[in-house]
Amino acid sequence: MKTLIVYASRTGNTEQLASLLYENCSEAGMEAELIRVEEFDLKWLASYAACIVVTYTWGSGDLPREILPLFEAFEQTELCGLVTGVAGSGDQCYPDYCGAVDRFRDMLYAHTRLAVTLKVELAPQRSDKEKCRKFAEKMIEKAKGAAILN
Ligand SMILES: Cc1cc2nc3c(=O)[nH]c(=O)nc-3n(C[C@H](O)[C@H](O)[C@H](O)COP(=O)(O)O)c2cc1C
Repeated sequence: MKTLIVYASRTGNTEQLASLLYENCSEAGMEAELIRVEEFDLKWLASYAACIVVTYTWGSGDLPREILPLFEAFEQTELCGLVTGVAGSGDQCYPDYCGAVDRFRDMLYAHTRLAVTLKVELAPQRSDKEKCRKFAEKMIEKAKGAAILN
């Protein structure tokens, strides 16, 4: 199961979360690739069996500008067999906490096989490690259900 973990991060919190998810996915036996969204070529999206999007939230519950092309690629490409997850870092001081995670969740639910979502307050803490382990488990469960993984 080739899994893409693609992330957007401005000040490093989301990058830490993406790295933690990468560690947990690798430990769970998934063949994962960790890539910053600016370095990801959208034409490869359909070549993965699974994809985890990791994003911060900007503005008033908005998607970061650099992740918009990826969002649109999910909407425009035939990916109904792709197992997906979305995770993100946000700040509870804002009324639309992790709004970008919610926007990806709704879109991925409609266009892919969405397995799991996760919201983390700012940088991941010790208590978030277990949540990341469970996130990886849920991705694998969904992939087994989709017969991508035996
Ligand atoms: C201008 C600005 C707007 C933000 N808007 C939101 C928001 O609407 N909702 C939210 O949950 N967090 C919001 N945040 C908080 C960031 O998403 C949060 O700090 C996140 O951890 C940043 O991730 P990064 O370190 O990977 O860049 C905002 C931060 C800034 C600076």
